[in-house]
Amino acid sequence: EKTAEKFTIGFSQCTSADLWRKTMEDDMKRELSFNPEINFEVKDAQGNSSIQIAHIQELIDQPIDLLIVSPNETIPITPIIEKAYNKGIPVIIIDRRSNSQKFTAYVGADNFEVGKNAGDEAKILLKGKGNVIEISGLTGSSPEIDRHNGFLKSISENTGIKFLTKINGNWERNSFEPQLESFLQKNSNVDLIFVHNDRMALGTYQVCKKLGLDKKIKIIGVDGLSGKGQGIDLVDRAMLSATILYPTGGEEAIRTAIDILKKKPFKKENILSVTVIDKNNVRITKLQNEKVFKQQQDIERRQNRIEEQNIITQNQSYIIYGISFT
Ligand code: FRU
Repeated sequence: EKTAEKFTIGFSQCTSADLWRKTMEDDMKRELSFNPEINFEVKDAQGNSSIQIAHIQELIDQPIDLLIVSPNETIPITPIIEKAYNKGIPVIIIDRRSNSQKFTAYVGADNFEVGKNAGDEAKILLKGKGNVIEISGLTGSSPEIDRHNGFLKSISENTGIKFLTKINGNWERNSFEPQLESFLQKNSNVDLIFVHNDRMALGTYQVCKKLGLDKKIKIIGVDGLSGKGQGIDLVDRAMLSATILYPTGGEEAIRTAIDILKKKPFKKENILSVTVIDKNNVRITKLQNEKVFKQQQDIERRQNRIEEQNIITQNQSYIIYGISFT
């Protein structure tokens, strides 16, 4: 059997440019620090599906022992994922999905649930009556499709809520702002906007503010990262009415990868739960996050102390060893 130090995990990431992805990679690396022998290679496709296909091909050729992939778009990336899987490389799909059953495990939240939670929250915020629009993520990526369907499913159960339109974004704020601005100028009856992530939700807020509509229009985002200017902070500052906390799954993906590599039992579907953060629970969430952050820093400090201690002990044993031979 192959020992842990020989394993290489390749990670094809659709983009590394935003904080949610960076958090995912940090979560992975923290979990990997328990297995420092494992070689971990990240390839950033910069939001480009052709680059991602080339990256996965390079990882197949290397070869690697296990592939983790977050597909930029569902349809273009599916065949290359199938190719890796057919070659016998275990494949873990994280966050965005492919279009096939040819993978070893999936880790991530259910994006239909994300959309449904946003719809349920919209109904509460609007007290069952109002006009809504949606700003979506990149067309053709699985969370975009699932979040949209979940949202529509939830609000269609309520006759008082009218869905006006969906404006396509690409997960980044600069993709839709002019279009949103002209839509809001022509339609003064919008009460709520569901935006597929918090980065675009911040852009949406700024468009609303520019038009003097920030007090009137409620905004729901997705991701709920902690830190200044991130989702939870934006809810706390009432710039967003709510965000749907979307876990990165980084830690769970690595744990599953190690189980697969060490031939231990694992689950094929690892669905992480989502939570709505709104004004009712934002303070407690923020406080808890700050506490976790401090605890993490404590753990790191302690780890450093242990390493220092180890070096000292090692040096001392060299000295003793030296003396015993002189
Ligand atoms: C990060 C991101 C998140 C979003 C996720 C969907 O790259 O855009 O903001 O929730 O991807 O896959």
